[in-house]
Amino acid sequence: MTTKLTGAGRLAGVIGWPVTHSRSPLLHGYWLERYGIDGAYVPLAAERDFEGVVRGLRAAGFRGANVTKPWKEAAFALCDVVETSARRIGAINTLVFDERGVVGSNTDGFGFLAGLGEAGIAVSGQRALVLGAGGGSRAVCHALDEAGAHVTVTNRSRRRAEQVAENLPGIAVIDWERRSQAIGDCDLLVNTTSLGMAGSEPLDIDLSRGRATLCVSDIVYVPLETPLLRQARQSGYKTVDGVAMLLHQARPGFKAWFGVDPSVDDTLRSLVLATLGR
Ligand SMILES: NC(=O)c1ccc[n+]([C@@H]2O[C@H](COP(=O)([O-])OP(=O)(O)OC[C@H]3O[C@@H](n4cnc5c(N)ncnc54)[C@H](OP(=O)(O)O)[C@@H]3O)[C@@H](O)[C@H]2O)c1
Repeated sequence: MTTKLTGAGRLAGVIGWPVTHSRSPLLHGYWLERYGIDGAYVPLAAERDFEGVVRGLRAAGFRGANVTKPWKEAAFALCDVVETSARRIGAINTLVFDERGVVGSNTDGFGFLAGLGEAGIAVSGQRALVLGAGGGSRAVCHALDEAGAHVTVTNRSRRRAEQVAENLPGIAVIDWERRSQAIGDCDLLVNTTSLGMAGSEPLDIDLSRGRATLCVSDIVYVPLETPLLRQARQSGYKTVDGVAMLLHQARPGFKAWFGVDPSVDDTLRSLVLATLGR
């Protein structure tokens, strides 16, 4: 719902299949209302012909769209400009239609760093250990690397971790079996595996080697406090949950389409947490 929508309203949405699970309409709808913007953000269920859908939206005057599964990789083929973030991460989640054409970027890394920043964590010069080598890991590794952290990645299948490092020179890889041992040498531990997610087994890791200043972050956000975050909190470490990344990653798209850099406030966080059953 928006407070104001005229024939001159700005339009954006999220393209995916299925798209009913997406929390993006809730996030953007909240900000549109909060800032009194003449605009709308809608779910766009696209099972096929992604290119046709994008061309149609552009022709109809949309400012752009978020892209979710299964189209995050397909989006590369139709972008006129692909920003560095998306190229390094290997996936596009935000399209902006402007004078350059269709511009693709990936805002997950921005969201991750902004979530850390909100918690008062600065990463420049810090040593980060990232667990996992999927899409979430690539976004986190890219963001940490760009922000000047020294990144080590580890994954159950080492080959996949090496692929992350091939795309992001400067990142080190260690064997999965060394993850607990490596904690003694890091300032920031980030879980990007799906371990600990509701319905998955918990992450098996020993945090006892961590220094008192260790910060532990989990990008999994269902449950909000994963077994890893609980273990970290009980050990006295600072923790950052995955909802912060989910909320902040939406900001760059909103700013590009609607002209305001929105803030993430407690009301928005509560609204999203309510959809997670909290
Ligand atoms: N907060 C946010 O905004 C945000 C953003 C993106 C993702 N996420 C969350 O992050 C999690 C991962 O997402 P993704 O897209 O990166 O998934 P993905 O591409 O499927 O990667 C899954 C990762 O988990 C590892 N893994 C799965 N089962 C494992 C097991 N039994 N033992 C060890 N490692 C295991 C995989 O290792 P292998 O390579 O060895 O299979 C891989 O590294 C999901 O819970 C997702 O919801 C959150």
